[in-house]
Amino acid sequence: MKPLPQRAFEFLDLAPGVGDLLEEVQEGLRSTPKYLPSKYFYDKRGSELFERITELPGYYLTRSELDILQDFAPAITKAMGRQCYLVELGSGNCMKTRFLLDTLEDPVAYAPVDICASTLRNAAATLHREYPRLELLPVCADFTRPFPLPKPHVSPRRTVIYFGGSTVGNFTPRQTVPLLEIMASALGQGGVLLVGIDLKKDPRILHRAYNDARGITAAFNLNLLVRINRELDADFQLDCFRHYAFYNPTKSRVEMHLVSTRDQSVTIDGESFSFHRGESILTEYSCKYRMDDFVQLAQDAGFQLRERWTDRRGHFGLLYLEVAEN
Ligand code: AVJ
Repeated sequence: MKPLPQRAFEFLDLAPGVGDLLEEVQEGLRSTPKYLPSKYFYDKRGSELFERITELPGYYLTRSELDILQDFAPAITKAMGRQCYLVELGSGNCMKTRFLLDTLEDPVAYAPVDICASTLRNAAATLHREYPRLELLPVCADFTRPFPLPKPHVSPRRTVIYFGGSTVGNFTPRQTVPLLEIMASALGQGGVLLVGIDLKKDPRILHRAYNDARGITAAFNLNLLVRINRELDADFQLDCFRHYAFYNPTKSRVEMHLVSTRDQSVTIDGESFSFHRGESILTEYSCKYRMDDFVQLAQDAGFQLRERWTDRRGHFGLLYLEVAEN
């Protein structure tokens, strides 16, 4: 018998199931005020819409982080050292990470972690073609819950978690500390967290980034209801909810909402939820930081700052944090 062809890479699929979605949707919609978890934006369509957002003229975040990675890749990867294990949380299409992979010296493995299986499969297949010698360990998972991190074949000299894109902004500062604490304990001594944060700036710039004229961000927001209708057999009427995003300067965050345009009710798995005209569902926080304030949070979680970079306009920050000795 011929030996089976060597598989390109192992795909670990720990994606949340419809049971998780149902539970969390019910919990959010039973609450006052109503909310839905932003991690559920990223089904296949949602991930595609997010990619289109990153190309919008007003959405400066991704471009700013790319500028940083491009300009400082040598410094960043030098700090990481050779034979490191790169783990990325919320990797999406893995576009930005190429700048690191291209500059890193002899990385032992790359583990992209994303909640969207289809996006992750495509990204991993593309990476495998372009980096055939790199050990790829894709994990489809909700990283807000514990999941097993695959072990590379070659033992790494250091593990680095790349948590880019300002994904950390989806958590409140109070939620961020325990999240970073979990990362610190998963990393252990010598471990590194490379985290991208969106910096405080003129609210008009923020407003433009989350209210594009083409309505892509609105479609991204509303797609959450499309997904719930499809996966949970719900009956949200899409033209009776409107995208509403604004910067809340006292909380330093952009908030995205879906606002009910009239009194209405929606049935999900036999349970009825009523909405008043003007009532909103909070679908996302996107927290903005002063660099020093985020450094303080990271210190509270057991990290110490090694280096920090920003783009020329000072829109975005990238922090290189090391697990502190205790
Ligand atoms: C992927 C969470 C960083 O908060 O800016 C884009 C998602 N929401 N437009 C962000 C998003 C609306 C994005 N993150």
